[in-house]
Amino acid sequence: MRVFALSDIHVDYPVNMTWIANLSDFDYTDAALILAGDATHHMSKLEKVLTILRAKFASVHFVPGNHELWVQHSDSPDSIDKFNRINQLCARLGVHTQPVKLGRGPFAVWLVPLFSWYVKPEEGVGHTYVPKPGEDPELRAWSDNYFCKWPALGENSNPATWFLSLNRPQLIRDYDAPVISFSHFLPRRELIFSTPEERKAWRGPVVDAHPTFNFSMVAGDSRLDEQLRAIKSKVHVYGHQHRNRYRTLDGVLYISHCLGYNRERETGFVSGIAGPRLIWANGRPARADGKAVAVTSC
Ligand SMILES: [Fe+2]
Ligand SMILES: [Fe+2]
Repeated sequence: MRVFALSDIHVDYPVNMTWIANLSDFDYTDAALILAGDATHHMSKLEKVLTILRAKFASVHFVPGNHELWVQHSDSPDSIDKFNRINQLCARLGVHTQPVKLGRGPFAVWLVPLFSWYVKPEEGVGHTYVPKPGEDPELRAWSDNYFCKWPALGENSNPATWFLSLNRPQLIRDYDAPVISFSHFLPRRELIFSTPEERKAWRGPVVDAHPTFNFSMVAGDSRLDEQLRAIKSKVHVYGHQHRNRYRTLDGVLYISHCLGYNRERETGFVSGIAGPRLIWANGRPARADGKAVAVTSC
């Protein structure tokens, strides 16, 4: 069983929808695809792209991102209603939004979606905030502030806590094979930042295009890391930042493989996007270069 990862396909942009439509109809028919959110906020386009991917891959495994929960151009009164409608759409299309075991024997693997949202600094536990000089504390440039609508989520709750609570049934299950988990949002603060090696290899622009925007205010939820470790995840796939990474931290391999926006690919902020990334094959994680580890027998 081969497992591929991809996120942030943003098919509201026709060039991205074409990129997806042009993926091979033959290369992935035995493979699973993890699609880690931010496909589109349009339900009709979401249905279209999931249908395309269902036809190309043996199975598709999806979690919504923040863009899916925008309520503009939708019939949903709020973002939770939209979330529920997306799950219904996925069920109708045969797209998985719950844990699934793939393969058999030594080649079996569990794919486990973890729902999530980001914790803003003022929301406390779980936030990934790191101060940035000159930042706008009100996040006026952040679209979610205008396009997401939250109903009453209960006392002491916020969207991040609400989504994490949906994962509780997955935390007490028995996983009898290696686990690959996935979320849209970042489970660790360290993942926001490049390593010294990545900075050395960087060939893109060095100017901060959004000096008042501090991504760490809306990056993720560190409680997500506790959840993925509770189920002994070996590999965790995430999206959201539009920075592609392959990094092992405390024994878990974290992989982000976003398609991103055309301008990000042109400027080099997003690179290495020849197709979905191979992350698992032959019963083990794929190599850093996206190739399968060879299996030998005697
Ligand atoms: Fe995105
Ligand atoms: Fe996102």
